[in-house]
Amino acid sequence: MTGRRRRGPNAASRAKGRGGGPVRVGLVGAGQQGRTLGHALMEVAGAQLVAVVDPQIGSAQLVAAECHLPSSAARTRIGDCHRSDADVWIIATPPNAHLTNFAELLRLPARPRAVLCEKPAAWSLGDVTQLVSLAKNSGVHLQFGLHLLSAIPPAVLSWLAAGGLGRLVDVAGTWLRVDGDPDWGHFRTGHCPGATFDLGPHLLGVMLPVLGRRSPICAVTSKMVSALATPLLEGGPIRRDSSAEIAMFRSRPGGLEGAGTLSVAWSGRGTGAELTILLRGTEATFAMHLDEGCGDAVVRVRVDARSARATGVAGTWETPARECYIRQLITLVEAADAGVAAYVPPGARAQDAVASTRLITAAYQSADKDGELISW
Ligand SMILES: NC(=O)c1ccc[n+]([C@@H]2O[C@H](COP(=O)([O-])OP(=O)(O)OC[C@H]3O[C@@H](n4cnc5c(N)ncnc54)[C@H](O)[C@@H]3O)[C@@H](O)[C@H]2O)c1
Repeated sequence: MTGRRRRGPNAASRAKGRGGGPVRVGLVGAGQQGRTLGHALMEVAGAQLVAVVDPQIGSAQLVAAECHLPSSAARTRIGDCHRSDADVWIIATPPNAHLTNFAELLRLPARPRAVLCEKPAAWSLGDVTQLVSLAKNSGVHLQFGLHLLSAIPPAVLSWLAAGGLGRLVDVAGTWLRVDGDPDWGHFRTGHCPGATFDLGPHLLGVMLPVLGRRSPICAVTSKMVSALATPLLEGGPIRRDSSAEIAMFRSRPGGLEGAGTLSVAWSGRGTGAELTILLRGTEATFAMHLDEGCGDAVVRVRVDARSARATGVAGTWETPARECYIRQLITLVEAADAGVAAYVPPGARAQDAVASTRLITAAYQSADKDGELISW
């Protein structure tokens, strides 16, 4: 088991803040996701929100008030939080601000013990790599907000990481959205080809912990089925008919060996995202579905394979997305307590962000060059 035992459903182990009281948490970015995480944090026993930062002071004050903090806890700059003494920070700003935010947090007199940064880590491979090396050099635990992973039971994650699914051959992802741009459409600052743009961080973020750790991908070819001409930020909606086929390769003595194909597409049916990983030669399946249809979003995980049944990890789990956020925050608070060296959280490690960004970047480059093989 990679997870730690918990005292109650939403209790963060026996984590303690610097002063021996609750773990003190700061939030940077009080938009949609910051607000969601602020609310989820109120359900984590042993943690207390102490600062909210947003250049829009009204947004910071709103989240502070909703979380029962005085308005003095709301700030417009990280640099103004030197008295907050936060042990842990959450970064929920747009991806192009994550690296700067993290560097600013490291300059606070009370250096954070752990940071949860929203996904995607950043838009460029260079920025993601810099984030991860800053964390490593400063000894700060850094984890990324791949909340979907929290829906996978720890025993299943361990089983996957140990190669339980066998040889992965085919991965398919579908973005189920009847209308509207992908959620992150409003962050677009560069050419991001259609469906891959939004699904990349979701799909690859989930897939890599399953696939990447034991069979690292080192080359891809990629074909975009629709035109690559996804417009820039101000250039209108993303094309809904876009889809992508990515062939992945791993290194073997004497050359490259196919390690699976990844297809990403839009679908006009339903809402949410769907990920299915199929295997050649076995009936094994790992499937994940985020249903945002109506009311609270629910994450469904299904694992089925002869080996999974034999190990007792086959099954279907449904977890409200809200509970996924809470679990992720519990992990963060526990990581702050245990220290970066002693604690490996279930789910998204900093290195996974580098690996998935590298893969997405290479896929874009390959598509740009008519499906040329891109290796690294
Ligand atoms: N909205 C979602 O459903 C969702 C889900 C998963 C992940 N995310 C991720 O969460 C992050 C935030 O997304 P969002 O949807 O909340 O965006 P948002 O636009 O609703 O909120 C972003 C907030 O950050 C503030 N901000 C911008 N630059 C800042 C800076 N330098 N310092 C402090 N605050 C700053 C903005 O004023 C705004 O209030 C992104 O990385 C996104 O990909 C969002």
